[in-house]
Amino acid sequence: MKKLYVKTYGCQMNVYDSARMAELLAPIGYGPTDVAEEADMVILNTCHIREKAAEKVYSELGRLKKIKDGRPLTIAVAGCVAQAEGAEIVARAPQVDIVVGPQSYHRLPEMIAKIAREGGHALETEFPALEKFDALPKDGSPAGVTAFLTVQEGCDKFCTFCVVPYTRGAEYSRTVLQIEDEARRLVARGVREITLLGQNVNAYRGEGLDGQPWSLARLLDRLARIDGLARLRYTTSHPRDMADDLIAAHGDNPALMPYLHLPVQSGSDAILDAMNRQHRAEDYLRLVERIRSARPDIALTSDFIVGFPGESDKDFEATLQLVRDVRYASAFSFKYSQRPGTPAAAARKQIPDDVKDTRLQALNALLLAQQDAFKQSCTGRRMDVLFEKPGRKAGQAVGRSPYLQSVHVDGADHLIGQMAQVTIDGVYPNSLKGTLLRQKELAH
Ligand code: SAH
Ligand code: SF4
Ligand code: F3S
Repeated sequence: MKKLYVKTYGCQMNVYDSARMAELLAPIGYGPTDVAEEADMVILNTCHIREKAAEKVYSELGRLKKIKDGRPLTIAVAGCVAQAEGAEIVARAPQVDIVVGPQSYHRLPEMIAKIAREGGHALETEFPALEKFDALPKDGSPAGVTAFLTVQEGCDKFCTFCVVPYTRGAEYSRTVLQIEDEARRLVARGVREITLLGQNVNAYRGEGLDGQPWSLARLLDRLARIDGLARLRYTTSHPRDMADDLIAAHGDNPALMPYLHLPVQSGSDAILDAMNRQHRAEDYLRLVERIRSARPDIALTSDFIVGFPGESDKDFEATLQLVRDVRYASAFSFKYSQRPGTPAAAARKQIPDDVKDTRLQALNALLLAQQDAFKQSCTGRRMDVLFEKPGRKAGQAVGRSPYLQSVHVDGADHLIGQMAQVTIDGVYPNSLKGTLLRQKELAH
């Protein structure tokens, strides 16, 4: 058996794609390894979103070149850097054999056969999205308790800072039938929680069972009926696509978890406009209010960009104010990174790096305080935990709360794959501690 090492950068959609690539190569004799040094084939599934992410790929390629100098090794670059840079990758790093974009990786087996036959390089960066999902294997290796399922790909929003519309192409939704089939297969393999993925997942408009386009809320309702599927989540959503039925689903669909990643990027109307986000700060706050009235305990998270071209101190203060108004459970913040080919990269008023640094620190301090407050507010609460794996200590198991927090529970290792109620009685930097309810009640 040949060994395959896959390294994944970037978002959850890449995590999903990496798993599919591994499944695709299993029938042609590749088994997984965690060690690049012992691999016969390496796939780097790359991310182009910020300069740092893209540069990491080249330093990893440098490391792989040393391995390849000593023995045969097939190197493939997949994902968004592959899509964005194509043949440039091979020019800069000739040790690369295969360059394959996110919509054409189902062709990997052919590409491997081609270079084995003819030598040289193989490159595929087309967008045959329709064909990809049909061509992927239907059943893969054993799944865990939770799984990702891509339902929508691509983006038509063209935020002025973002490469995704160029690397992932136009919005495309899979059919309800195809998604339900994949979800049922996952559940049959032991999955209890599925996160539906899309660059703009709430823009989902896939063909429904009646041949009409269905919304994400309708898809979620359908999936919630699958026996054995306990939890549903979805990510990433755009504020513009938070439809009424989706907001309502947060109150009505019992499988849908009270957690929503709803990136706002900035709290300044001028910056939101320059970013082409197509909404004002006020619209976002109203939206948050409506979501919270459908599901009062919902945990909200977001992404922020600081130092977008033209961002003044006042604009940045508006972002801090929005954060204070919303009160997030957690969030990611990034320094604006100029990406080749995007409109904002050419803007004249770029912000100096030291200003970006100062703003990032200030925003992070505020977000961290909110994250801490949210965690503290969980102490003493009862929650359902879905147990996923053994913990570090004997007998311990680790699971997820409805709010996607890691929860460690002693004496719960027999519950892996199941849901149980716990009382939260400890808060740690990256996790919570819980006690199984039954045990606790017995102790009293
Ligand atoms: N589709 C999602 C975002 C996908 S990219 C949405 O619309 O919100 C993930 C995050 O990376 C973005 O939310 C943004 O905060 C960040 N990001 C994207 N491009 C960036 C850039 N050029 N510089 C810094 N951060 C960026
Ligand atoms: Fe990028 Fe904007 Fe599309 Fe999100 S909505 S993927 S930030 S262009
Ligand atoms: Fe990165 Fe591509 Fe995802 S650029 S964030 S891997 S869609």
